[in-house]
Amino acid sequence: MPGLFDTIDINGVKLKNRLVMPPMATKMATEEGGVTDRHLRHYMARARGGVGLIIVEHTYVLKNGQMSAGQLGLYEDRLIDGVRRLVEAIHREGAKAAMQLTHAGAKAAREFTGEQPAGPSEVAPPKGKDLPRALRVGEMQQIVKAFGEAARRAMDAGFDAVELHGAHGFLLCQFLSPLTNRRSDKFGGDLDGRLRFPTEVIKEVKRQLGEGSPLFYRFGADDMVDGGMTREEGRQAAQRLEHAGVDVIDISGGLGGSGHERFTEQGYYVSLAQGVKEVVKVPVIGVGNITEPEYADRIVREGRVDLVAFGHKLLSDPDFPKEAARKLGVEMG
Ligand SMILES: Cc1cc2nc3c(=O)[nH]c(=O)nc-3n(C[C@H](O)[C@H](O)[C@H](O)COP(=O)(O)O)c2cc1C
Repeated sequence: MPGLFDTIDINGVKLKNRLVMPPMATKMATEEGGVTDRHLRHYMARARGGVGLIIVEHTYVLKNGQMSAGQLGLYEDRLIDGVRRLVEAIHREGAKAAMQLTHAGAKAAREFTGEQPAGPSEVAPPKGKDLPRALRVGEMQQIVKAFGEAARRAMDAGFDAVELHGAHGFLLCQFLSPLTNRRSDKFGGDLDGRLRFPTEVIKEVKRQLGEGSPLFYRFGADDMVDGGMTREEGRQAAQRLEHAGVDVIDISGGLGGSGHERFTEQGYYVSLAQGVKEVVKVPVIGVGNITEPEYADRIVREGRVDLVAFGHKLLSDPDFPKEAARKLGVEMG
């Protein structure tokens, strides 16, 4: 079995190791969602530290999908140049780069969008500020198109891959959760109905990416709230995501957020990731307060996950991969 510092090929994109920087919002963008020099410094430092893949933070695909101040946006072509500077900087320092695309749906913030948020149904997700209205099918089609256009912009800018944000109570996750999706049309109801909108987004984004550019999916594999999507349903959903064309499943959980404020145990989502890995063929990323190189190497060698994401660890220590290689006695490629 390969270890943490072995390469992995994902649809022709070769990662030099299996250490991943997961998407983490920096709130460093301009008011319009543009890239700043602070972003360049932040991501270059982590790329220089030796991480194989950086997944750039959640980036909104439509203006009415913004959730927070300083959030990155890629909703118009004029934003491509800034993003290109960012991806070139990451590549110069030797890492591959993916961009996480999102729409906040029912969690979008009126203070930035100037309008009432809209999600699958008139149900506020955990931490949603306003009561949302239900999206009309025509609006959903516009959002599908916007995800595709943002993916095309990410490709134009030079990204190696795109990730869809389908966790933590954002729009794609809102559709999948029976708590926030109460629709009675074909986009609600059973698991297949609730997956219909995310699947349409996946298909459109894949169409824009073409061959050879992998699609990652940040998958909230368990809502972790009463009445929400269960772990077992999450495993079934993961198989359907794979079938729809997703190339890598990046596991997280929690309808109310990523859980990093609640959980402290090392590898708190690794068993969730393993449960998904057991039922899919595509690579799976594990996460959750992973700080020890020996532990990370072991979960890869034991085949529990294929890649390991280090969030807080890379925020506090950009050079962690070098230190990890030294501890494990391996040469960094
Ligand atoms: C400051 C911060 C911002 C985050 N922003 C995002 C985000 O934009 N998209 C996302 O999918 N997860 C986000 N997360 C969750 C992380 O990707 C990761 O899953 C979480 O921090 C757990 O990993 P860790 O314990 O190694 O930090 C964020 C986490 C933190 C701490």
